[in-house]
Amino acid sequence: MTTTDIDDLVSVERGEVDRRIYSDPAIFEREMEQIFGRAWLFLCHESQIPEPGDFFASVMGRDNVLVVRQKDGSIRAMLNTCAHRGNAVCRADEGNAKGFLCTYHGWSYGIDGRLVGVPGYRNFYAGEVEKNRLGLPPVAQLASYKGFVFATHDPTAPPLEEYLQLLSANRALEVRRRIQAHHDRASAKRVHDFLAPLLARLEPSDVQKAVFFPIHARPELLQ
Ligand code: FES
Repeated sequence: MTTTDIDDLVSVERGEVDRRIYSDPAIFEREMEQIFGRAWLFLCHESQIPEPGDFFASVMGRDNVLVVRQKDGSIRAMLNTCAHRGNAVCRADEGNAKGFLCTYHGWSYGIDGRLVGVPGYRNFYAGEVEKNRLGLPPVAQLASYKGFVFATHDPTAPPLEEYLQLLSANRALEVRRRIQAHHDRASAKRVHDFLAPLLARLEPSDVQKAVFFPIHARPELLQ
């Protein structure tokens, strides 16, 4: 499918989008490769992981990613997949951890993703597991912009700020003042009214949080 073919699926004039955009496997694969495999992707906000060991489970395309605050205050992001047979090493959406344990065969990892424990290291693996090489795979690049944490799988991607400026210059990204206006309680109340009944049990202040954070980051808002 060419770029022209994809362009033809969207009509700005008629306000129509061909439903193949949502269901065609070829378009999905192309998105995974050309967007989610290369672009800077939003993971979480720094304020969601303020303390050492705080983690937040996010997603980059098909990959589950753990974003973790380190002891020195820095942030790391690594794939949530055991180096042994690919099992997830963390099942929680967020929390605080001293390390991560794969429940399949018990390999354990530090909050920095290093492989630190291999049960049966000498008996089962003859002491030949290369622990230094087999940690949780880190993302290719990680950076924050005004507290918003982004990562990319592409080691050759331009720096985050340059990428955001490119998007802005191409009008693919812009700061919407009206969204920011939801800081104002009265505006939040109008959003609250508009989105009811989905948000029927939320306070306006919670709607404000829902506007700024992905729903999966605040699941309690929908309970
Ligand atoms: S798959 Fe994780 S320890 Fe085996």
